[in-house]
Order: sequence, then C-alpha cells, then structure tokens
Amino acid sequence: MNNIKIIKFRVNRDNYGNLVPIENSVDIPFAIKRIYYIFDVKHNIRRGFHAHKKLTQVLICVRGSVNILVKTPLEEKTILLNNPEKGLLIGPMIWREMFDFSNDAVLVVLASDFYKPSDYIRDYEKYKKIFKAKL
Ligand code: TYD
Repeated sequence: MNNIKIIKFRVNRDNYGNLVPIENSVDIPFAIKRIYYIFDVKHNIRRGFHAHKKLTQVLICVRGSVNILVKTPLEEKTILLNNPEKGLLIGPMIWREMFDFSNDAVLVVLASDFYKPSDYIRDYEKYKKIFKAKL
C-alpha cells in the first residue's frame, strides 16, 4: 500500500533493559514537529476517522496493543501494533481508524507538522473525491 510502511527501530538491549532512539530524518524520514500520545481509551472506542492532506505520522504502541485500519478507495488493511520496536508510518491521503485498544495501550504519535485542523479530511465521501481527483 502506498504511503504506508512499518519501520523497525534499532533497539539497544543490555542487562539494564531496552532503549529505542528515534532521531529526525535518521530513524524516520522526516523532522518531528509534534508528538502526542493517546491512552486510557476504552476497548469499545473507535477513533481517528480522518485522512490528512499533507501530514506524515509515525504511530508507535509503546505499551499494550491497538489495531489500525488504513484505507484508500483502492485498498485497505488492518495492522496490529503491539510492539514498541516497530512504528507504522502513515503518509498523506490515507484514511485511518484506531480500535481495539488494550486497557494499558499507550499510542505515541510522531508528526511532521504542528496541529492544523485545515489539514484534516474528516468526511469519507469528501476524502474519496479528493483521492480520486489526484489519481
Ligand atoms: P482527534 O483528532 O479527535 O483524535 P483522533 O483522531 O485520535 O480521534 O483529537 C482529539 C482532540 O485533541 C481534539 O479536540 C483535537 C485535539 N488535538 C490537539 O489539540 N492537538 C493535536 O495535536 C491533536 C492530534 C489533537
């Protein structure tokens, strides 16, 4: 699927535990302008329901697990994030929904830009039109 990628981070393992470093443009292909994290999400909650026009993000479930649906008018897949050693890169113009958060899930998101409501497409029909116009 275009604009979707699993990133396997380098892990420093030693007798004291594990450490994952993430450096701008080294471990992920952009400079981080914003970080946010999502936690304490009830199991029956589904959230997201949007695409971004320009934003690229990397989602890392640093504790627990969560399912991420990524979808375009052409294809869709569900990716289980349950490993702090892996990130899911989601580029522009991908519809996403997040669901089945475990009680302990902490989803950290690294973003390529500041929070800009104008970059969101929250209506799936509108998203489909914009996506198809770009084909
Ligand atoms: P929302 O976009 O609804 O989250 P999700 O896509 O995961 O369902 O964001 C929830 C609230 O947080 C909403 O009021 C907007 C706010 N928010 C910020 O203030 N800054 C941010 O960087 C993000 C992602 C959300």
